[in-house]
Amino acid sequence: MSEVKLVAKPGEVQFPKGLEGVIARETTKSYVDGQRGRLYYHGIPIEELAENSTYEETFFLLLYDRLPTEGELEYFKSRMVQYRELPSEVYDYICKASSRYNDTPMSVLRTAVSMLASFDDSAEEDSLPAHEREAIKITSRMATITAAIGRARKGLAPIHPRPDLSHAANFLYMLFGEEPDPYYARVMDVILILHADHGCNASTFATLVVKSTLSDMYSSVVAGIAALKGPLHGGANQRALRMLKEIGEPENAEAWVLKALEKKRRIMGFGHRVYKAYDPRARILHDYAVEVTKRAGTEKYLKMAEIIERVMIERLGKKGIFPNVDFYSGVVMSSMGIDDELFTPIFATSRVAGWTAHALEQRVDNRIYRPRFVYVGPEIDHWVPLEERVKPEKEPTPFTPLEKLV
Ligand code: CMC
Repeated sequence: MSEVKLVAKPGEVQFPKGLEGVIARETTKSYVDGQRGRLYYHGIPIEELAENSTYEETFFLLLYDRLPTEGELEYFKSRMVQYRELPSEVYDYICKASSRYNDTPMSVLRTAVSMLASFDDSAEEDSLPAHEREAIKITSRMATITAAIGRARKGLAPIHPRPDLSHAANFLYMLFGEEPDPYYARVMDVILILHADHGCNASTFATLVVKSTLSDMYSSVVAGIAALKGPLHGGANQRALRMLKEIGEPENAEAWVLKALEKKRRIMGFGHRVYKAYDPRARILHDYAVEVTKRAGTEKYLKMAEIIERVMIERLGKKGIFPNVDFYSGVVMSSMGIDDELFTPIFATSRVAGWTAHALEQRVDNRIYRPRFVYVGPEIDHWVPLEERVKPEKEPTPFTPLEKLV
C-alpha cells in the first residue's frame, strides 16, 4: 500500500468518513446492489426468498452457502429446535432486568446473550465445529430471549418453546402464549428472512472486528447487538413507528414531515448508505402492510406512512433517499400486536444469522482488523508539572472536565 500521511492538520488528509466505500473483505453471503435497489443472499434475490423460503432455510443458505436438500433441512431444523430452551438463570435475569425502566429490551438482550456463554462448555473452544454449533445455538436461543423480554416487560412469565412449531411460529407462540394464525406466522417468517443479512452493515462489521481478534462467538454476537441498538441502525424501526404515533392522523402527515425537514430533522426509516434506490425489503414489507393493517384495522398508519413516503421521495428522492427496511416493518409488526420496543430485538433475532455466518466465514480466512487514524493533535510536547499548568480559555473538547460530581 502507498504511504498515507498519518500526522496532519485537521481536514488535511482526505479519507472516506464512516469508511464509506471501503472494502473490508470478500464474502459469499450477501450482495446489496444499492444503485438498482436489489438484495441477494448467496446470489438468490430477496424477493424469491421472501416468497418461497423459511428463516431456517435462509439461515442454512447463509451458513453453508447453498440451499439444503429436504433431509438436510429437516436435520438442521431439529438442531435449531434442540437449542431453543434457555437456562433458568437467564430467564430469571430477563424477568428481573425487564422490570427496571433503564434496562431497555436491547440492553437485556445484549446481557442475556452474554450470559448464555457461561452455560456453554464449548464457548471458548476455537474450532470451526464449535463455532458452527454456537452459531446455531445462539440464533435459536435469541428468539426465546426476545419473546421472554417481550412478556417480562408486561410483567408476564416466560412461555417455554415448543418443538413442533417453526422458528417464526414458535417465536409468536412464546410471545403471545397461543399458537399463531398461520398467516401471521408466515408474515413473521418473512420479516425474519428480510432482516437476516445485509452486506457489511455496522453490526455485522462490529461482529467481525471482534471475531477477527479470535474472540469467541458469543462476544462477537454481543458486539453485533451493541451496534444494532443505535438509532442510525436497528433502532430506527421503533422510532419510525413512534413518529407515526406522534403524527396521529393521515391529514397531519404532510405538514408534519415538511416541518421536520425544514428543521433538518432526520426522518427515521429513510435513507441508506448503500441504497440510492428503493430498498427492496421496504417494498415487500409495504405489500404485507396492506393486508396486515386491513386485518388489524390499523390502515391509518399505513396511510400516514404512504403520505410520508410520497413527500420524502418528492423532496429527497433525487438525493437517493427512499424508505428503508425500518419504515414499513414497524407498521406490520405493531399491527400484529407487537410492542414497538421489541422491534429492534426482533431485528437482532433475525440478523444473528448473518452475524454468525459472516463470523464463520471470517474465521476460515482471518486477519485481525487494524485500520489507522490520522493524528491531528498537537505536535510532540512534554508533560507539564501541576503548578505550571494554566486552564485554557477555550476547552479543546466539546465536553468539559468540570462536570458536577454526581
Ligand atoms: N431524513 C432526512 N435526510 C436524510 C436522511 C433522513 N432519514 N438520511 C439521510 N439524509 C440526508 C442527510 O441529511 C444528508 O444531507 P446533506 O447531504 O444535505 O447533508 C444526506 O442525506 C446524506 O446523509 P448521510 O448521513 O451522509 O448518509 P449516511 O450514509 O452517513 O447515513 C443513514 C445513512 C441510514 C444513517 C441515514 O440515512 C439516516 O440517518 N437515516 C435515518 C435512520 C434510519 O432509518 N436508519 C436505518 C437504516 S436501514 C436499516 C439498517 O441497515 O440499519
